[in-house]
Amino acid sequence: MDIARNPEMADAAPTPHEPPVIRREDYTPFPWILPEVRLRFDLGLEATRVVSTLTVARNAKADPSSTIRLNGDGLQLVSVSIDGEPVNTWSMDGDDLILPLSGDAHEVEIATEIDPGANSQLMGLYASNGMLCTQCEAEGFRRITFFPDRPDVLSTYSVRMEGEKAQFPILLCNGNKVEEGELEDGRHFAEWHDPWPKPSYLFALVAGDLVANSSTFTTMSGRDVELNVWVRDGDLPRTDHAMESLKKSMQWDEETFDREYDLDLYNIVAVSDFNMGAMENKGLNVFNTKYVLADPDTATDADFDAIEGVIAHEYFHNWSGNRVTCRDWFQLSLKEGFTVLRDQLFSQDMQGEAVKRIEDVRILRSAQFPEDSGPLAHPIRPDSYREISNFYTATVYNKGAEVIRMMRSMAGPEAFRAGTDLYFDRHDGEAATCEDFVRAIEDGAGLDLEQFRLWYSQAGTPKVEVAMRYEGETATLSLKQTVPPTPGQPAKHPMPIPLRIALFDRESGEHGGEQLIVLDTAEKELAFEGFAQAPVLSINRGFTAPVAIERTAPREDLVFLAARDDDSFARYEAMQELVVGHLVAALGGGLSDEEREVGQAAIAEAFGAILTDDTLDDSMRGELMMLPSQTYLMEQMLVADPGRIHAEREALKAWLGQHFHSTLETLHDRVSAVPYSLDGPARGARKVKTQALVYLAAGDPESAAERAWEQFDGADNMTDRQGALMVLAGLEGALRTNALLDFYNRYKGNDLVIDKWFTLQAWSTHPQAIEHVKALAKHPDFTLRNPNRVRSLYMAFAGNPHAFHQADGEGYRMLADLILSLDPINPQTAARFVPALGRWRRIEPHRAALMRAELERIAAAENLSRDTYEQVTRSLG
Ligand code: ARG
Ligand code: ZN
Repeated sequence: MDIARNPEMADAAPTPHEPPVIRREDYTPFPWILPEVRLRFDLGLEATRVVSTLTVARNAKADPSSTIRLNGDGLQLVSVSIDGEPVNTWSMDGDDLILPLSGDAHEVEIATEIDPGANSQLMGLYASNGMLCTQCEAEGFRRITFFPDRPDVLSTYSVRMEGEKAQFPILLCNGNKVEEGELEDGRHFAEWHDPWPKPSYLFALVAGDLVANSSTFTTMSGRDVELNVWVRDGDLPRTDHAMESLKKSMQWDEETFDREYDLDLYNIVAVSDFNMGAMENKGLNVFNTKYVLADPDTATDADFDAIEGVIAHEYFHNWSGNRVTCRDWFQLSLKEGFTVLRDQLFSQDMQGEAVKRIEDVRILRSAQFPEDSGPLAHPIRPDSYREISNFYTATVYNKGAEVIRMMRSMAGPEAFRAGTDLYFDRHDGEAATCEDFVRAIEDGAGLDLEQFRLWYSQAGTPKVEVAMRYEGETATLSLKQTVPPTPGQPAKHPMPIPLRIALFDRESGEHGGEQLIVLDTAEKELAFEGFAQAPVLSINRGFTAPVAIERTAPREDLVFLAARDDDSFARYEAMQELVVGHLVAALGGGLSDEEREVGQAAIAEAFGAILTDDTLDDSMRGELMMLPSQTYLMEQMLVADPGRIHAEREALKAWLGQHFHSTLETLHDRVSAVPYSLDGPARGARKVKTQALVYLAAGDPESAAERAWEQFDGADNMTDRQGALMVLAGLEGALRTNALLDFYNRYKGNDLVIDKWFTLQAWSTHPQAIEHVKALAKHPDFTLRNPNRVRSLYMAFAGNPHAFHQADGEGYRMLADLILSLDPINPQTAARFVPALGRWRRIEPHRAALMRAELERIAAAENLSRDTYEQVTRSLG
């Protein structure tokens, strides 16, 4: 028993319980192999009996041991037998069960009992809406039965599930169903077998009253695979998009990576209580309903895309994650970084490369850059952790994907494919490491990645300073990189940074072809000859490297690129730089009225070109219209004042809204006339529609409120309705109240849409947003038990700069209160709110002190979970 959790022992243990640090360098192979696992589940919502039979043999590749350690967490042990004999020679070490094993091979049988209904952590086996389901990654299997719960122990699983037929008519598990039948007293059973050896984190079962959208996919070798998307009865009409996305993913992975599916059945189950997005369990993916259910009336275009991307992500894991898994959790980016890259490339092919790339960079900058520059910075392959759940981060996932994308850019797509072919071939059926991946790419693609490996071990976003000199027809580019210090890593080595560049001729607006340069030293100079006048530099085109470019480009160069760069990302980037440069200067306080006007005029020139350029498709126009996010702006400053950043950004929006009032109205009218469909142009029109409305509302709230109400009231789809409601939620007056009420009544009972209703208010620019959040926390539909609902209110709030960063610290107090009340219920989700407070070092001193005080208040609480303890202490440290 954990002493810190025993209330009677609380006085005897005054020092906070420190969870141990797990280190990558301490890895040793498990002394035993477990080729076969048999599990018997007697299912009940309040009591589930699990009997597990393990075949155990000595691992010839590991040091011998006279005991076997089986991890457990909150299990009630019923009995143990070894080779058919009941034994009581076992002992407990914390939550782990230690059994003596004298021979070379044994059969171990263990019976345990668990209470899924009481499992509010949503790890292991838990109840959700009357059904039972599991989440085992990373360490949830030990909450089901005693087991070496580590990813390098691979077994084949045979599972028997028994339960009441009325309550659990559908019984699902990994692999193929081999038998089913009726039992006495209204009970029934199903037996499943998964032929592919897998680690325990990929185990899953689901039991409940579900219906399926079913279809078939024929693989490239001609095998038919049965596909099912399982949901609750009323949700069936909203499953077609998920099914289509699954088929497209299967097809794409065959065509692009030569990967074929390897079972006759693929099941997806949608669950409404889920900590994360989805889970790639072998043959039985479990999904958050948010990433399955969609129709035009309830899901936005962005929701449709997210579903397509997450379905693809989990499907792609079947090879990058399941067939080749991870040796230990430090290698998490081996499967996650690679799989994110695979899903990004897939979505680029489905939705268009240019816009998808911009979206992915926006996510990286708003979620990963702040991580890399804050107290929680870690390399994509971390060196230590206390709780692995805290490392399912934007760094491991998104920066991990960028690192592999750089290898692909340097090798070229074909050589990269040769590298991934070799990787799958070499390591199929194994638990591999990041090093294995890098070596396979080196060998298969013919790259030298010696120095490149630093990307796996060094944290922090590299900064690249760029300058151009022009003299006697020669343009000289000088580059200088620095990798900033991060916790535990004070000094860094230069890394190879691949940059695609082009030099534009000012007159013709053309460039003589782009090239890939690799900056692999601290400083480098490159000379380009034959320019009759100074060229305009376009750099890091396509965002080839996840770095921060710092350059002092003349403003007219940025205006030039924003209006005509043929690389869409570079065009977007020039617009962002123009705005960032202006806002940062304004915030520095040094802008005279005249300088402010010059800055605004440059932005207006570029913005005007974006609004009216008819060679642009609307989808790209919508992207280019977006101002850099507040988070990204805060990143640009060593110490940020969130209140002032918000005010300056809003003021620029208002200025643009007024300056382009009639152009924006004409634009809004044009795109409003485009009828609803899911094709690209119609989606682009909807994106521009809400963007235009946002600027119009900033410029002239009163007249825009009418326009927004019209868009809201006349909408025949969620994208337009949500966009209009977002704008209205930020304004004062009766239209706001009416729209919110109308939306609520219309969608009452649809949890995913009611989540949007919470989010729109919590994230709103409305001056009283913080009061709205307080009231919403008392709303009958609010609950701490459902992660989607908690995030819909509090993640939105924590991301709302003017509300969360209210100068008196009220926002910080509210978030700390949430963390403290959520931690005992669902530590994994509670810990995810800590980083918002952990940014204190980069905030102006008055607020920083208030944020720190809230972190200290959390740290002082008794019985903190490992998850929250680790995040809070790192944030204070
Ligand atoms: N492997 C899953 C995915 O990214 C995520 C599982 C996260 N689980 C967790 N406990 N953090 O597809
Ligand atoms: Zn994943």
